[in-house]
This record gives sequence, structure tokens and C-alpha cells, in this order.
Amino acid sequence: MSVTNYLTLPRAPWNDRRGTLSPLKAVVLVLLTAPALWYGTAFVLRALGAEPVEALQDQAGRWALRFLFLSLAVTPLRLLWRWNELIKVRRLIGLAALFYALGHFALFLAIQDWVWLKIASEIATRIYLTIGAAALTGLLVLGLTSTDEAVRRLGPARWQSLHRLAYGIALLATVHFFLQTRLDPTEAMVMCGLLGWLLAVRAWRWRGATLDARSALVLAVIMTLATAFGEALFFHLRFGVDLQTLLATNFGVVAGIRPAWWVGGILLPVALVAYARRRPASALGRRRRQSVSIGSLR
Ligand code: HEM
Repeated sequence: MSVTNYLTLPRAPWNDRRGTLSPLKAVVLVLLTAPALWYGTAFVLRALGAEPVEALQDQAGRWALRFLFLSLAVTPLRLLWRWNELIKVRRLIGLAALFYALGHFALFLAIQDWVWLKIASEIATRIYLTIGAAALTGLLVLGLTSTDEAVRRLGPARWQSLHRLAYGIALLATVHFFLQTRLDPTEAMVMCGLLGWLLAVRAWRWRGATLDARSALVLAVIMTLATAFGEALFFHLRFGVDLQTLLATNFGVVAGIRPAWWVGGILLPVALVAYARRRPASALGRRRRQSVSIGSLR
């Protein structure tokens, strides 16, 4: 009997279940490691400004959140774009989010000089850090239970309800991002709009409604408008600026590309691709409908 009968070696991340190279997984893996390589190189070349460790920590946090959102977008995109193969990369993207979040946390520890008492008191007393720690703990739980073995042990139904926590974790991580934003809340606002779409799509499917190009488009328009109004409300409440002026700014481009434009620019193409990939009414379906209407005339 060969050794491999006793040992189950972990599968290479670029291989599929049969152990053969999956081009989709390989490409996604390269894209997932690209930010780490880019910022790692910039760090070594001292191109990250006056506070390189802090800059690296920020980027690790941002990419953790982006990949977490992307992992949540896999199922809607798979349904909308009729691209079943996408499911193969969901776990990979989720694990990338966890690794970037762990990197973000490790750099935080380094910034705090690994003084554990200080670290514990910072996390316990600053609400945005407490929320970040809760999100990281949740991500860890999902990461540790992302193996085939864990699915078998928990059973598919329990595993699925556990992994729905990813939505709550994304919410916590977005609040963490938002609360620590000081000068420019643009990206945090964009993430709020995108999270709104992900949650709305999920709620839509929970109601039992089918997710199609039209519903994706309607939700994209709603989230774009909600982002513009949300940003206006934020600046109105924070700095007392006139709401109408703020709205005019958010829907215009004079003050640069506002968050609502980003949200629309990301979500509208998603819906448009879904329209383009809609299955044309099949000849069989057409014939059936014709025979029904002819039958009803008889
Ligand atoms: C124990 C866990 C965590 C700690 C201690 C922590 C710590 C921090 C700190 C100190 C900052 C502010 C950096 C600054 O002042 O510029 C920050 C920002 C941020 N964190 Fe975390 N974080 C944690 C978990 C997470 C998780 C799980 C995510 C995402 C999944 C995340 C995403 C972010 C993002 C997007 C930012 C904003 C970065 C920027 O301004 O460019 N964090 N975090």
C-alpha cells in the first residue's frame, strides 16, 4: 500500500479536486497575491512614505476587506453571469481575505512594539479596534472551518449557516474601517454602498426571489443613490454643510469622482453583463408557448 493511502496531502491551491491544474484558480491566485507582492516590494524599496509600516498595515486592511467582499460576491456573480466555475475560487478568495487580515493585525502588533498589555488595553478601550478584533475572530473561525473535513464534520446545513456569518463579519469590518477614517471617507463610503448591494442581494434571495439581471440593476441603482444620499447626510451631520449643495456635489464630477460614482461604476457593469449573458428564450420554450396560445384559441 502506498504512503498516500495514509496521508492526505493538501491540494495545491491552483489545482482542482482531481488534482489537475485549474487555469481559473491559477489566475485568481496570481491576482490575490499581487497586492502583497506590490506593497512588499514598495516596502523593501522604501517607497511607502514616512511611515512605511503604518502604510503597509493600512493596505493590508484595505485588501482584506476588498477580498472579503469579493468572496461574498462570488455567488451573486455566478448566478447573474451564468458562470458556475466561479464557485471554485470562493474558498481561495475567502482565505486570501483572512491572510491579509492576519497580516494587518501582525503589523498592528509590530507598531505597538509587541507590548501585550498595551495591545490588549488598546483593543479593549477603542471601539473601532474592538470591532476589528471581533471581525478578525470571525474570519479565523471561517478560515479554520473552510476545509472539506470541516464540511463533513459539521454537515452541509450547519456549515452553511456558520459561513453565513461572513455577512456579519463584512459589516463589522466595514464599520471598523469607517470609524477610523479621519480625513477622506471616500473608500469607506464606497465599501458601505457595495456592502449594501451584497446584503440586499442576499435578502432578495432569502425571500425566495430569483436573482436576475433586472433585480441586480434595480438594486445597483438604489445603492448608487443611497451612497450619494448617505455621503451627503454624513457631511451634513458632521460639518453642517447644506444638504442640497452636498447632493449636487455628489451627483456631479466637479469635486472629483464621488463614492456614488464608484458604486455605480462597479455595480452597473455587473448588471449589464448579466443582461448580456441572459439566456435567450429557447426555441423549445417559444414553440411550447405558441402551441399553448394556439390551443387556447381552439
Ligand atoms: C484585531 C484586529 C484588528 C486590529 C487591531 C486592527 C487595527 C487597525 C488600525 C490600528 C487601523 C488604523 C490605521 C490608521 O490609523 O491608519 C486599522 C484600519 C483598517 N482596518 Fe483594521 N484592525 C483589525 C482587524 C481588521 C479586519 C478584520 C479588517 C478587514 C477585514 C480590517 C480592515 C481595516 C481597514 C480597511 C482599515 C483602514 C485602512 C486605511 O485607512 O487605509 N481591520 N485597523
